Amino acid sequence: MKSLVAYYSLTGKTKLVAQAIAETLDATLLEITETRPRRPGFAIYLTGGFAALTNRGSEISPSDIDLKQYDTIFLGCPVWSFRPAPAINSFIYQTDFEGRRVVPFVTMGGSDARKALDNMTAKIERRNGKVAGSFALTSDKSSDEDLIARAREAASEYSVQTP
Ligand SMILES: Cc1cc2nc3c(=O)[nH]c(=O)nc-3n(C[C@H](O)[C@H](O)[C@H](O)COP(=O)(O)O)c2cc1C
Repeated sequence: MKSLVAYYSLTGKTKLVAQAIAETLDATLLEITETRPRRPGFAIYLTGGFAALTNRGSEISPSDIDLKQYDTIFLGCPVWSFRPAPAINSFIYQTDFEGRRVVPFVTMGGSDARKALDNMTAKIERRNGKVAGSFALTSDKSSDEDLIARAREAASEYSVQTP
């Protein structure tokens, strides 16, 4: 069966990672967007950061995603306030992962992703998903080429795991 790489990205870093994973694994790539796009600037840290901190979701598109043809789902987003970004919360809240293995991943400016990945893992498990592993990639202070290379490496690692 095929893998799905579903992701949300505000400034393009998680998108680069998701694309690299999908290419490496010949997986389907699905971008999740917010129906009310956020205006760039400091306000994002207040509104988006607060929403993430309080585990809120946001209105997303597409809103109804059929996972039947996928056995593995890579699910990625940026870390916001040590937590997953709201759009990915919505995706998880709306999805029943029964019978699927899920690999959450994040990109982040800093270096401590544990809280965000633990948070995603708990939410996915509450929606019946089996988390088969998770990973984080630091996006700041590295070139896009380096980020893509690390994403390819991580994808290869998780493609060989069995449920
Ligand atoms: C609202 C907001 C909150 C953020 N909070 C964190 C954080 O808590 N820890 C961190 O390491 N990076 C944080 N960042 C940085 C992003 O996680 C990082 O730049 C990420 O790679 C961006 O991914 P994207 O380009 O796919 O949107 C934050 C960024 C934004 C916009």
